[in-house]
Amino acid sequence: MLDDVIQSLQAARSLVVVTGAGVSAESGIPTFRDALTGLWARYNPEDLATPQAFARNPELVTRWYDERRMRCAACAPNRGHYAVAELERRFVEAERAFVLLTQNVDRLHQRAGSKRVVELHGTLWVWRCIACGAEREEPPAAFTSYPPSCECGGLRRPGVVWFGEMLAADALARAHSALEACDVFLSLGTSAVVEPAASFVHLAKRVGTRTLEINLDSTPISDIVDCSLRGRTGEILPQVVERLGLLVES
Ligand code: APR
Repeated sequence: MLDDVIQSLQAARSLVVVTGAGVSAESGIPTFRDALTGLWARYNPEDLATPQAFARNPELVTRWYDERRMRCAACAPNRGHYAVAELERRFVEAERAFVLLTQNVDRLHQRAGSKRVVELHGTLWVWRCIACGAEREEPPAAFTSYPPSCECGGLRRPGVVWFGEMLAADALARAHSALEACDVFLSLGTSAVVEPAASFVHLAKRVGTRTLEINLDSTPISDIVDCSLRGRTGEILPQVVERLGLLVES
């Protein structure tokens, strides 16, 4: 099975990698559903990750997101992130297409060196004013008051996609064009239940793409992909990249 993954990547001319919270779990960042532990245990995600929640209690929601942002700042990319960045480097060096579609909002992929990244669900690091729309990337320091306010006096919210919100049109467009052009699709550390990422494997299969998955648990796409490996991305991916060898120019 590991050989299948390696041979598929070796032959790939255009690779799309989709990642989820599982890739960041080994960095100490709880997956979305785990994050509601401790003092947040009494809330449901719907209490904190929706426009209605923000309208109802902007202080609570912005405090929770800023606490997640600070937790990300204290964490470091793990071997899985670095392996994805090395995979991109190898593909770019061999003049092969590579796009990383991540559902993660922690920017650990970028801190590990990934460049061709589409942040499907936005990021904790950019906050936006709900009045004037001004967006700003925040430094690794917690806000001093909640909800943070804009110079225009408006409230600022995290630049992430909340339940019930549409993904940014350009992110979705980049994802679809990458999926239509790829010949290998690799799903990493995602439960593959949240749309639209959950449907990406079907888009890929429709165009005859070879589909692969590496995940700790089985998911709804495990029986659909050509090859599904069970395990931790921080352990398996470095082995894959190490054994990938030199990618000859396409
Ligand atoms: N290596 C590989 N897979 C792992 C690891 C690991 N070390 N640890 C956990 N996993 C797997 C779990 O088995 C699970 O299937 O990662 C997956 C994480 O699933 P979710 O917590 O549902 O995260 P994700 O798939 O990214 O959720 C998608 O839903 O919660 C919303 O917007 C949020 O972006 C998130 C989206």
